[in-house]
Amino acid sequence: MTIIAGFQTAGIIGGGQMGSGIAQVCATNGLKTILVDINPKQIETAKIGITGSLEKLASKGVITPEQKATALANMSYSSDLSALNGCDIVVEAIIENEKIKVELFQALDKITKASCIFASNTSSIPITRLAAATSRPDKFIGMHFMNPAPIMKLVEVIPGMATSEDTTKRTLELAVGLGKETSKSADFPGFVVNRILMPMINEAFAALMEGVASAEDIDKGMKLGTNQPMGPLTLADFIGLDTCYAIMKVLHDGLGDPKYSPSPLLAKYVEAGWYGRKTKRGVYKY
Ligand code: CAA
Ligand code: NAD
Repeated sequence: MTIIAGFQTAGIIGGGQMGSGIAQVCATNGLKTILVDINPKQIETAKIGITGSLEKLASKGVITPEQKATALANMSYSSDLSALNGCDIVVEAIIENEKIKVELFQALDKITKASCIFASNTSSIPITRLAAATSRPDKFIGMHFMNPAPIMKLVEVIPGMATSEDTTKRTLELAVGLGKETSKSADFPGFVVNRILMPMINEAFAALMEGVASAEDIDKGMKLGTNQPMGPLTLADFIGLDTCYAIMKVLHDGLGDPKYSPSPLLAKYVEAGWYGRKTKRGVYKY
């Protein structure tokens, strides 16, 4: 039985790229982990993704065969939110939409035990506003994993206005127990990472729209010219253009500065349903 910072059972909501990665990290580090998605097809996709990722990590010696077996044994899946009633912590990783997240947390508030901590993996939505929609704002916090969660080292931790010191302390301890480094951010739109990353991505769309260079040359310039693992347009396709657009809108609305205005070209891709890798079409075709 593994307990990290008093947490033994974690519920992860949203079995997309982030939720499945976060669930994998929790299960690998010994927590009993329940992954919930409203879409049963996505649960099947998440199962395949988690198994494949664990196999890859085991074959490279990053995790031991025992850790892989433990992770698989710790994982369970459900499309029913009430499966989370015994959880010590729930990490929400559903789509970047404030209204839908609020509805979810209000439903969770009724299902989970009073001591359960609510963490949101939101990329940009104010934690204070999400927390205020629940009966436990002191037990609500931002726990922002980076994509791909099993590989990336950072978890950004964002206390809201009402988050208790105990919740913040335990969340930081949990992230470290999951093998991550942490950084703390105040609750302002986009926190630190996306406040700085998204305007760069948005600018890459502006440059593409103005015909400054081809998508390939924009990416090559930034990848080789600034030593980044992916160019900004490739990274945008990897994150999801729907998510990038949602984050830009939160930055623009929340900070009120026209410099955060989402690129019209980014908006057009999203309107076309070209969300990037997850829909097999974004700036590039997959
Ligand atoms: N599980 C297991 N292994 C994985 C994996 C996963 N989910 N994803 C990638 N890997 C492994 C690959 O197997 C590979 O291992 P080897 O080098 O040992 O072969 C390694 O990671 C690199 O993968 P690839 O060779 O396939 O591709 P790559 O070299 O392009 O690396 C990457 C992939 C790690 C994603 C790298 O490109 C990268 O770091 N990109 C930038 C990612 C980034 O910036 N993430 C943050 C986005 S912003 C965010 O997350 C916040 C937000 O709110 C939007
Ligand atoms: P995604 O589109 O890959 O997955 C979202 C999942 O949520 C889908 O499987 C969907 O079926 C599920 N879902 C939607 N509404 C639900 C509900 N009410 N109950 C249960 N499940 C529901 O999205 P993602 O990229 O995994 O992003 C998830 C969250 O993580 C977002 O808030 C996003 O901003 C944040 N985030 C994304 C990244 C990234 O690089 N993509 C990085 C860090 C944080």
